[in-house]
Amino acid sequence: MKLYVRTQLEQIIEKLKEQQVIPQELTPHFTVERTKDKSHGDFASNLALTLAKPAAANPRLLAEKIVALLPDDGAIRKVEIAGPGFINFFLDESWLSRQVSLALADPRLGVTTTEAPKVVVIDYSSPNLAKEMHVGHLRSTIIGDAVARTLEFLGHKVIRQNHVGDWGTQFGMLLALMELFRQQGREISMELSDLEGFYRQAKQEFDASVEFAERSRQLVVELQSGDKNCLMLWQEFLNISLSHCQKIYDRLGVGLTPAAIHGESAYNADLPLVIRDLDKAGLLTENQGAKCVFLEEYKGQDGNPMPMIVQKKDGGYLYATTDLAALRYRQNQLHADRILYFVDVRQSHHFQHLFSVARKAGFLAETTQVEHMGFGTVMGDDGKPFKTRSGSVAKLADLIDEAEKRARILVSEKNSEMSPDELDEIGRVVGIASIKYADLSKNRTSDYLFSFDNMISFEGDTGPYMLYAYTRVASIFRKAKLVEGTVSGEILLGEEIERELANQQIQFAEILNRVAERGTPHLLCAYLYELASTFSSFYKQCPVLTAEPEASRNSRLQLCLLTAKILKQGLSLLGIGTLERM
Ligand code: ARG
Repeated sequence: MKLYVRTQLEQIIEKLKEQQVIPQELTPHFTVERTKDKSHGDFASNLALTLAKPAAANPRLLAEKIVALLPDDGAIRKVEIAGPGFINFFLDESWLSRQVSLALADPRLGVTTTEAPKVVVIDYSSPNLAKEMHVGHLRSTIIGDAVARTLEFLGHKVIRQNHVGDWGTQFGMLLALMELFRQQGREISMELSDLEGFYRQAKQEFDASVEFAERSRQLVVELQSGDKNCLMLWQEFLNISLSHCQKIYDRLGVGLTPAAIHGESAYNADLPLVIRDLDKAGLLTENQGAKCVFLEEYKGQDGNPMPMIVQKKDGGYLYATTDLAALRYRQNQLHADRILYFVDVRQSHHFQHLFSVARKAGFLAETTQVEHMGFGTVMGDDGKPFKTRSGSVAKLADLIDEAEKRARILVSEKNSEMSPDELDEIGRVVGIASIKYADLSKNRTSDYLFSFDNMISFEGDTGPYMLYAYTRVASIFRKAKLVEGTVSGEILLGEEIERELANQQIQFAEILNRVAERGTPHLLCAYLYELASTFSSFYKQCPVLTAEPEASRNSRLQLCLLTAKILKQGLSLLGIGTLERM
């Protein structure tokens, strides 16, 4: 129950910060250790000693303060303060055993829904539709989805918003090329099946032909003024591009549907009003003909405030203007309590600026939380942003194909007797799990190295390892020809490793709450990986099916069952499907 003690102490640290006993920015490095001599309890911690200096307090008195803040949940039987200020914990094993039984009897595995449900708007995926989805969209799509699922599971109302880039000048040249191809009698839907190639051709044409460039600009103006034919052409383009995206979402098993699409174009009508209201709030300044918002707190390198440009000299609006309108919509129409943006960290300046301007303009309620959940870049082996071998940006669809192909090979090496159909199906699940788990298990804010070799492997902290760990636990039940609900009885925790496993099992709720709070699915991955590893030690040390007496066998079977259920539920919250056999 080391983790239990540690979690309690971490919560107490937060309380001590609130009470201003210790400074806000402190992250104390303290230990929780298993005691050698059981007369000193089960665990001991040096927390009070490490806090004494920053709190400028006597460690024994501080220890008393900590002890007084411990919860009264029955888990800790007794606490003693020893020596200069060590805290010794005596745990109640029967409490732990009861918690496991309760979790097992609960379809939610002991995870209660929140008492304070919030409306959480999650902006994720949000690709630009002019091109095909590429590797840069992977992280937003996968991480955002895992956090959405976790928040939903905890009882919040999640509204997914796919803020696609479906507006702007680059659509001019795309529409111009569609027009040209139509005149040439070519089949547009065929031409658009390779969006990437289509974009390239349009760009080439734009750079090479003055006439084409002129027509492109004309079409932008027509589009913006709501010309019917132009809008039809644009809609046709969008439909095809969006269906590409939907195919990717479906393959990845991501919970984004057309209902979540609320792209930049949806805010067109509101943009002049955003400008008007910024002006009313006294925030607008004209600078060389452009309308800008200057905030004192955002200074450039020269020490002068940096502008947020909201309208260009020619009247055109910008990314920031649309984001202000989107924020208002999320606040007023969707009634958000919390708005999360899963967008590349390289846009962090944009979001800090956006949030400040929105607050100053009164677009956001005082209590609404807005958070940019930034993520790092997907890197290649060469230490540069990930590219294909030919040096172009990697299309997401191609990466998924490749992962599925490689996973099929990996699985077939383990299972020579599997039918081709079965291999296809399992390869698909394992391939997707590999990509997703590799991304989710890394700290969101760091850059992350994309490597098929590392992710499509049974070795280490990988998707395939996790799926395999699950099938192994599930197979114990199959082997014993047992079905759920047939084993019961008290959970017996005589062995240290059994206590360790049980202790981890009951931390599930705490972990999910952290993921929901911080938008960090890697915490859930780390937890599940650790659970799987502890299970594997338990299974080595403790016979299950051959355990004697019957009560011990039943108890251990229940520990297996709860492990399987947590792995399955946890992976499903990460958006990863499990297999019963592989
Ligand atoms: N379309 C943008 C891009 O590809 C991301 C949009 C993120 N969401 C937002 N509300 N700005 O960079």
